[in-house]
Amino acid sequence: MTSTTFSGKFITLEGMDGAGKSTQLQGIEKFLLENGKSAIVTREPGGTPLGEKLRELLLDTGQPMHPETEALLMFAARREHLDKVIFPALERGDWVISDRFTDASFAYQGGGRGMSLRKLDDLEAWVQGKFQPDLTLYFDVPVEVGRRRVHAAKPPDRFEKERDEFFRGVRAAYLERARKFPSRIRVIDASVPLDEVTKSVSDFLSAICHEWP
Ligand code: TYD
Repeated sequence: MTSTTFSGKFITLEGMDGAGKSTQLQGIEKFLLENGKSAIVTREPGGTPLGEKLRELLLDTGQPMHPETEALLMFAARREHLDKVIFPALERGDWVISDRFTDASFAYQGGGRGMSLRKLDDLEAWVQGKFQPDLTLYFDVPVEVGRRRVHAAKPPDRFEKERDEFFRGVRAAYLERARKFPSRIRVIDASVPLDEVTKSVSDFLSAICHEWP
């Protein structure tokens, strides 16, 4: 199954914790609805009842786990998410906006935890075949900026508690993915003030809405 199988479009949002992608998410949904697209918003890990239970385990600060267990649970939640939410919505012709998807596994489990990229490639091929997002918006911020925003917002979850070194690996892996897939992944500078980020996103989406009627 590839993304061209469907009439709907699949957009994913990525970025380090504190990059501000969740803030942009609501604006993106509103923009698409105003432009006549029927859109649903979902998230990973999560998006289904089982996925949300796995999310609780994955983010729980009292639940240490092996990096490969973590990756397997992320991909288990993803398999369910594809089957129950993403594929049916794309089949109906909806646009699906997901707060994170597989690039996050390469960034966090690969770049952050140091898990083998070959194993992640294998899991990706197993769970989603050749299916990929039509577009990924990657909100890029320097580690220090993201960290400051996270700590100001709420008590940190299991990932947000990691050291700066972990997040340097996460960011490097995201940037490497963006270099590897330049036509799919759009890098957005999220270190500038919020209204400037929102403007870059809506300018870009206007262009996309014309291209994908
Ligand atoms: P996040 O989406 O940032 O939610 P919130 O804004 O509520 O904190 O939290 C999900 C966390 O899960 C985030 O730290 C990244 C991590 N994650 C992975 O490590 N691998 C993955 O494959 C996915 C989808 C998320």
